Amino acid sequence: MTETALEARHLFKVFGRNPKQAVQKLKSGASRTDVQDAGTAAVIDASFTVNKGEIFVIMGLSGSGKSTIIRMLNGLHDITDGSVVVGGDEIAGVPASRLREIRRDNVSMVFQHFALLPHRTVADNVAYPLELKGVSKTARRAKADEVLAMVGLDGWGDKLPSELSGGMQQRVGIARALAADTEILLMDEAFSALDPLIRREMQEQLVELQEKLQKTIVFITHDLNEAMFLGDRIAVMRDGRIVQIGTPEDILTDPANDYVEQFVQDVDRARVLTASNVMERPRPVVAESAGPRTALRQMRDAYMSAAYVTGKDRKLLGMVTDRDAVKLVRKGEAALGSVIKPVPQSVSEDEVLMNLFVPAVESPLPLAVVDAEGRLVGVIPRITLLAALGPGPNSTEEITLPHLPVPQAEIDAVLGEADAATGEAAATEEEVR
Ligand SMILES: Nc1ncnc2c1ncn2[C@@H]1O[C@H](COP(=O)(O)OP(=O)(O)OP(=O)(O)O)[C@@H](O)[C@H]1O
Ligand SMILES: [Mg+2]
Repeated sequence: MTETALEARHLFKVFGRNPKQAVQKLKSGASRTDVQDAGTAAVIDASFTVNKGEIFVIMGLSGSGKSTIIRMLNGLHDITDGSVVVGGDEIAGVPASRLREIRRDNVSMVFQHFALLPHRTVADNVAYPLELKGVSKTARRAKADEVLAMVGLDGWGDKLPSELSGGMQQRVGIARALAADTEILLMDEAFSALDPLIRREMQEQLVELQEKLQKTIVFITHDLNEAMFLGDRIAVMRDGRIVQIGTPEDILTDPANDYVEQFVQDVDRARVLTASNVMERPRPVVAESAGPRTALRQMRDAYMSAAYVTGKDRKLLGMVTDRDAVKLVRKGEAALGSVIKPVPQSVSEDEVLMNLFVPAVESPLPLAVVDAEGRLVGVIPRITLLAALGPGPNSTEEITLPHLPVPQAEIDAVLGEADAATGEAAATEEEVR
């Protein structure tokens, strides 16, 4: 069951002389430019729900209103109109003292430029929120060391922030937010100031950390690849409005409008799409219970020189080649068992395409995709993998077969010879499902 951590309903933020009047006009259909004289409409009618334990990304170009939204979620900006509910508490209109409590106890924030206190040690920076809570010095230090270890900064507690690299300083920022032990973390462009390689490393660390801690994270970015990599769901903003909310796959495969479509054009699909998004129906699939003749026929009809073999419940057992099947038929054997070979490579349904290239190259057959129970749910031919990466130079694929296929005439001959000899029942793929 999904529980709500945070909810924003019909949020408006107008900076300027007459915000309330601007909101009235916006509500009755005026555009952002129509209300310019009354103020800057930074956020217009934004509604969304963030579930407990999810990473909710707000993405949009510079000036689209992302920071303004996130600052309304923890009361750093007052709300012109609409409502924000955090852990059951309404934020709109509550006194400043209560907002400070909410920031201390419920919602922490990680900033783009780290916002570390330069004259305090790393550990003291991390422990700062605990100091505000009145936690004792020893307990603070213990907690600081614990969260520093979590972000990979074991032993750096006594250094000053200036002695650390940018990536490390941002990990201190994250550790500080974790020390506060709030359920919700707000991260505004938290990785944007970092070098691309460090940035990617931080993204991966955040995902790892999140798997362990299961916080609720609202993450802001203008980088689509970052959004797609981190987000369980993404809200796309444009000119103050949320134009689409969906999973990365939704947004990539079903953009709500031309704006989103243009935005996603150059996304790194390899990090977003998964095996299950591109897999095809496996063909042929030979049942373990089928004999070599059936297997051979199936391979011949599919123009394949090898096939996957499945057992009960479509569990992937291995593969068989036409050459081995021919041998069995010639020997008059009725069972496939002795020639089923292990499948060198298979991948899980939710593996991202980026991680499929090596297995695909090493796989003699179109790459097998299996579900959590080990059932063969699909295959990915190399050509499909390349095509899924979207518009690019046309690729001509070198198809490597597991071995030179047995010539068609030989297969026909061997099937003919053996027909009378074995009388094996021809189970079809459909029958054995
Ligand atoms: N304190 C403020 N006073 C007046 N206008 C503001 C204020 N803060 C933001 N704005 C305006 O509100 C709009 C949205 O700004 P916001 O900072 O939320 O955008 P953003 O999506 O976070 O952009 P960026 O990616 O550059 O951080 C902009 O037009 C901005 O100029
Ligand atoms: Mg911003």
